[in-house]
Amino acid sequence: MTKWWKQSVFYEIYMPSFKDGNGDGIGDFAGISSKLDYLKDLGVNGLWLTPFYPSPKVDNGYDIADYYEIDSDYGTMADFEVFIKEAHQRGIRVIADLVLNHTSSAHPWFQESKSSKDHPKRDWYLWRNEPNNWESFFGGSAWEYDETTGQYYYHAFAKEQVDLNWTNPEVKKAMFDVMKFWLEKEVDGFRLDVINFLKVNDSYQDNPYVGEEQTHLYDKDQEGILTTIEEIAAFVHQYPDKFLVGEVGSEDLEILKRYSGLESLDVVFNFNIGSVETFDSERIFRGLVATEEAYREDQIPTLFFSSHDMSRFISRFGGDLDRAKLVAALMLTAKGVPFIYFGDEIGMRDWVTDDINKMKDVQGLMGYKLALESGKTSEEALRVANEKSRDKSRTPMQWDESEFVGFSDVPPWITVPDDALEVNVADQLDDPDSMLSFYKSLLGLRGEHASLQVGDYEFLRYEDGMISFGRTDGIEKVIVLLNFSDVVRVVDGLGENLEFLLSTKRNDLELGEGITVFENEALIIKEVLSR
Ligand code: GLC
Repeated sequence: MTKWWKQSVFYEIYMPSFKDGNGDGIGDFAGISSKLDYLKDLGVNGLWLTPFYPSPKVDNGYDIADYYEIDSDYGTMADFEVFIKEAHQRGIRVIADLVLNHTSSAHPWFQESKSSKDHPKRDWYLWRNEPNNWESFFGGSAWEYDETTGQYYYHAFAKEQVDLNWTNPEVKKAMFDVMKFWLEKEVDGFRLDVINFLKVNDSYQDNPYVGEEQTHLYDKDQEGILTTIEEIAAFVHQYPDKFLVGEVGSEDLEILKRYSGLESLDVVFNFNIGSVETFDSERIFRGLVATEEAYREDQIPTLFFSSHDMSRFISRFGGDLDRAKLVAALMLTAKGVPFIYFGDEIGMRDWVTDDINKMKDVQGLMGYKLALESGKTSEEALRVANEKSRDKSRTPMQWDESEFVGFSDVPPWITVPDDALEVNVADQLDDPDSMLSFYKSLLGLRGEHASLQVGDYEFLRYEDGMISFGRTDGIEKVIVLLNFSDVVRVVDGLGENLEFLLSTKRNDLELGEGITVFENEALIIKEVLSR
């Protein structure tokens, strides 16, 4: 039987920003539960929740201080249980973000570890007498001096996110217990945060530099990591029907492809496609082809273009609505498991600030600090901070106009779109031409056509700015024509028995020889194979 996640479309919920249920201005489980009908109606059948465990939130919850509770900002365990039950009743599965690589420095494990060199938990973290040159991914040294014992501890991210020592079997056991706990709470799987960082090279050699950039040669993707990940996968998969998606922090397909498969993670995020910085249809196409060529039969790609860690794709790709629809069409019809980022379905834009005091993201704040230290002016530092800050895509879901916090603080180098205010659910719900309606149509189409869920490519082409592909399950073939160019195209030879399914530019189309695809049109048709 086809695994459920192969037929699913996931939706990422950034916990504090999706829906506030108790009026304190912070998203929570009660809020999410109240929007489950919206999500069902949208047509998604999987949710990925960013961390919801108690945390000082230096890195918004990716610094976990207690793996067995719900952060009070998000509600109670009872709220969580109601939410899971209600989601499951609607056929929506839920995966929890789990940070296995590091804990908050406030976690009792670390407090014990740092208390003395002889503490039994000393070895749960990575302590050294001297730092090496490894840099934190948020900037600055990855080593922090701790006065209590006069040693340095390792943190790949913020100094409040302390890396665990996964070569210690007690650490592994503690984390397996955590997974068991949440699996028994009926989560349907996990999104495993920075999972390729679990091990560092025990030679602790300095990382090399290419120009000013450090190459992270010894602090990620180390030998032995695949075995550890296979153990995690085997543990989780003892429970029937559980799903694992790994965040493998790399855009290199050669690295990404090591981490998924039958014995390993079910899928990993394909940053090789998803994190293209500016819009380039040919580059996206090349990413699809390269993935198709590199992956074995038991490996399935993921498709996403936004997340809580990056700029929203609509802003990144220039703000054009037609283009955004084309990208959405690609994401929901190409081969792979799609992950929609909350708010993209209504076309929410990036946010930037002209006031550093309003910035929350540790990565932006660190960028600001380092820029000032390197002699930049505060204006230049703010620009760096905005570039690095992930607050961009973390603003509250715009359910209606009142929730628009958007662009009041926009610095002069950002253009505010005219229709920014109209970007909200209330306005779009009943508008057949809205982004929201388009997403719904796409999700509906995907739900109705097995070939869009599990079909192989029959062809995958690129010509003059148009990506086209056919996907088939042997019974029917769905043909997707994505004309990213400003020129009308005519396509021949697509087969017989063609039927119109969906377009961004028209409601119907007579299909014969020579199909006209308008500029910037997404056109989806099907060929019935067995008649
Ligand atoms: C992942 C998360 C990111 C976080 C980092 C450290 O990349 O997606 O938000 O800052 O891990 O935990």
